[in-house]
Amino acid sequence: KCLQRADTTSTISCVLSSEKNLSCWMVSSLLSDEKNGQKSLHTLQVERQEQAERSVLISCQSSTNEKKFLKYLSKHGEISKYFFYESYGVYAVVEFAKQESVSSLLEGAAIPGGSHESAVPFKSRLLSLRNFSPVDSQNQPSGLQCQPQTTIPISELIKRLSREKSIDKQITSLAEAYQLTEENSRLRFLVCSLLKDIAAAYFPECTIKPFGSSVNGFGKLGCDLDMFLDVDSISGRNVKLSGLSLEYQMKRANSERAVTQSILSVIGECVDQFGPGCVGVQKILNARCPLVRFAHQPSGFQCDLTANNRVAMKSTELLYLYGGLDPRVRNLVFTVRCWARAHGVTSSIPGAWITNFSLTVMVLFFLQKRSPPIIPTLDHLRDLAGPADKSVIEGNDCTFVSNFNKIRLESNTETLEKLLSEFFEFYATFPFSRMSINIRKGKEQNKPEVAPLHIQNPFETSLNVSKNVNASQLDRFVSLCQESSWLLQQSETGTPRGGGGDGGPTPWGLATLLLPSQVAGIKSRKKRRREPASERIKGLLESLKNKNQLKKS
Ligand code: GTP
Ligand code: MG
Repeated sequence: KCLQRADTTSTISCVLSSEKNLSCWMVSSLLSDEKNGQKSLHTLQVERQEQAERSVLISCQSSTNEKKFLKYLSKHGEISKYFFYESYGVYAVVEFAKQESVSSLLEGAAIPGGSHESAVPFKSRLLSLRNFSPVDSQNQPSGLQCQPQTTIPISELIKRLSREKSIDKQITSLAEAYQLTEENSRLRFLVCSLLKDIAAAYFPECTIKPFGSSVNGFGKLGCDLDMFLDVDSISGRNVKLSGLSLEYQMKRANSERAVTQSILSVIGECVDQFGPGCVGVQKILNARCPLVRFAHQPSGFQCDLTANNRVAMKSTELLYLYGGLDPRVRNLVFTVRCWARAHGVTSSIPGAWITNFSLTVMVLFFLQKRSPPIIPTLDHLRDLAGPADKSVIEGNDCTFVSNFNKIRLESNTETLEKLLSEFFEFYATFPFSRMSINIRKGKEQNKPEVAPLHIQNPFETSLNVSKNVNASQLDRFVSLCQESSWLLQQSETGTPRGGGGDGGPTPWGLATLLLPSQVAGIKSRKKRRREPASERIKGLLESLKNKNQLKKS
């Protein structure tokens, strides 16, 4: 289970405590990763999990003296990485070079007492710094530098984008501002690792892995943390019995789903009763995919814990692969997701809206439809798969290549500006009423069922990932695509405008498209037809300047 990379370029020493836990293909994918620097998701997960297990999360005061703090912790061993951040107080993530440093640190930690409340004596790697005199020297600055864990507000983003000189630059700048940072990614893995310690009380061999946008390359700072409790990796499942042998006696349930529900119910209860920092625990066990939802206060993450959700893990791997093939994929997905959120096409509340996942698949499909295609079809990725990539989950073929080196891309050199504009054009005119979006084939297919929006689930091909979307939400999406496509074609929108005085630079290009009220004024299309274009643009730009109309996404 323990895998160590001796250095970043060559030697890999790998200790397998159980051959099931780390299959040989992971080692071979590690080796192949060394060639082009593009890590497979498995490699990334293994590295990050291992870092997380050597890490602790400590609540401190903002006046904590950094040097003194580090000196104190270093007594337990070398610190390989640390950072501070704010979330209902200041916290430090401290990663030690060796696991034993964490044990040593925990040995010396005390159980809180002395207050009128009683503590559940559940020990974890979430700690608080006590009796730490803040500043011991006048020369020491007391303020800690905190790493941001949330995105800038959309009004700020619009200003930032308006200062850029091209739409291409605006798009890359948006992705840079929104993407998860190195620190945020580490924190996500650390929260999974802390949760794993709770689940391990019942299932010592289990793992908890992040999936979805926390790891697929399309995550925005502040996105939820989707976690997958993996009990399939518990050893003994594929042991072939022969001759005199033993097997475990185990409680049985009627179905896999019932097993998942009972595991999540117990772990959810445990998280609720004993989990330090876990609040607002809800067990949503009757959903299609049963889950436990809660807020992890020290990190500020909204968490969804699922189990037996291996297809979602495969979708995550697929999105990660597509996102790593060409930088335009991630840039465009970030931009479209941000645009959709700004206009209420997507929402943090579940409902009849298009989800970020569906939207991402729509971007992928559009990129497959370019001429020449920017990314290959899923069928092509399946054809490139080697024997080690084979994966069948509950009868669904989830096989596709995981080695980036095996994928040859066509030479499409379209700019981001062109692609964004064509994306809106593409979906403004897509025959949604008849056709289904299908990234497996890279071609629209006849709709197999009546639903306003049909996007074939890439792995469970009889399912529609956008089944929840109603006709009016789809209409809104199409109208917004029409309006955004039209706006991008106007020279007034496409030219940097500068100026702006106190209110900052005047929005232009992508910044214009993120302003909610104006772009959404599609109802006035008829009115627009009556006015000359220059008048419409003038009116539009006037209203764009009104800062009060900037809404937070
Ligand atoms: P955020 O909105 O940033 O959280 O994006 P996300 O990609 O994490 O989406 P979400 O949290 O809703 O779902 C987590 C993961 O579950 C996705 O990345 C997919 O892998 C998977 N998933 C979500 N919705 C569907 C769906 O309708 N069908 C399938 N097959 N998988 C889904
Ligand atoms: Mg998510």
